Amino acid sequence: MNVLLIGSGGREHALAWKLAQSPLLGTLFAAPGNPGIAKHASCLALDVTDHDAVAGFCRQNEIALVIVGPEAPLVAGLADALAREGIKVFGPSAEAAKLEGSKGFTKELCDRCGVPTAAWQRFNNAPKAKAYLRQVGAPIVIKADGLAAGKGVTVAETLDEAFAAVDDCFEGAFGDAGAEVVIEEKLVGEEASCFFICDGTTALPFGTAQDHKAVGEGDTGPNTGGMGAYSPAPVMTPEMSARVMREIVEPSLRGMAETGTPFTGVLFAGLMITEDGPKLIEYNVRFGDPECQVLMMRLDTDLLPLLAAAADGRLADVSANWRDEAALAVVMATNGYPGRTDKGSVIGGTDAADAAEGVEIFHAGTALDGANLVAAGGRVLNVTALGASVTAARAAAYAAVDKIDWRGGFCRRDIGWRAVARENLEKAR
Ligand code: AMP
Ligand code: GLY
Repeated sequence: MNVLLIGSGGREHALAWKLAQSPLLGTLFAAPGNPGIAKHASCLALDVTDHDAVAGFCRQNEIALVIVGPEAPLVAGLADALAREGIKVFGPSAEAAKLEGSKGFTKELCDRCGVPTAAWQRFNNAPKAKAYLRQVGAPIVIKADGLAAGKGVTVAETLDEAFAAVDDCFEGAFGDAGAEVVIEEKLVGEEASCFFICDGTTALPFGTAQDHKAVGEGDTGPNTGGMGAYSPAPVMTPEMSARVMREIVEPSLRGMAETGTPFTGVLFAGLMITEDGPKLIEYNVRFGDPECQVLMMRLDTDLLPLLAAAADGRLADVSANWRDEAALAVVMATNGYPGRTDKGSVIGGTDAADAAEGVEIFHAGTALDGANLVAAGGRVLNVTALGASVTAARAAAYAAVDKIDWRGGFCRRDIGWRAVARENLEKAR
């Protein structure tokens, strides 16, 4: 099977690395890809916003499956355009991608289908939003309705913070994404990310992970796209996973199918495990980044037939096996991230770091400058390792980080701290 993978980040490098191990794979193409992906795929300068060009490429190259990594092309309708041309695609339609593209859409689905989530209200102007805030008080959560590159959410501890967040949204800090605002109750508990591969009617559980959103150690400083992750998420016991499937994922899939917008692709449920049980914080319609990297390290089944089965509506016929080991990814980012970053700092030592057993260095924002590997974005490398425990995976990942010679970058040194503390407690018992 020839496959076209859309995207250029660490998530797509991990997918390419895993797909390249499939005996079913013919040629893997990636658009646009990156220097890490280029080890496994033929990288193309294809404009993925030009749906006709993508479809034309697929026809010329007998592409049997298109796998879409990021959300933006899905929200823009790439999967619809390819499906209209009879090209098989793993990823939701634009209408189904509203689960990520519009917070209000997801909250309405939750209300309609009885999915537990934070109590909420939607506003299209600041005075009404602020009047509501005065009524309910803080703490409270303010969200730009649309896609805001992970930056549209404010967990406000005071009313002043909440007012400022409302002003940011309506004054255009998030562009069109802030034209509507969702205000919701602050949930208390432990967060977890759960992944499901879906074919419109069936959901296959596809691993759990915990992300680290804040840029600084001890979860301090501004939010980022994710500074590290580990899998599995310890809060997701088999009982909790079964509840999430029954109370959240299955009713959501049924609700989507009932309105004529069945969901195909990866459903990424961001959950809060509260005293009252699991509640949905949000859906994404793609793998997390860097969560995908740790999932791919642990997946012990050929990825390609699973994704093809989802695209074909045959998920009930397949299953996924997982390694018992934990996996942990440390994100190395350019100094200054998540603010402004300079491009072009030279990175050495990745081959030495990659050579260790059970370690993979996935590329995110890298580029080649002659023979040099250089930084080309905020998040640059994902140093990912397997281990018998999160503690062991973390030791292996940081040993690999220490082999990388990059003065222009940094990483958090405490990825996995909650799980490591939990493992230490268990050992002491
Ligand atoms: P998002 O950008 O939508 O992934 O949200 C960013 C983060 O905001 C989440 O990972 C949570 O930590 C937090 N968050 C979002 N909604 C709530 C909520 N209702 N209660 C508490 N925390 C929340
Ligand atoms: N790491 C969080 C995300 O991909 O949304």
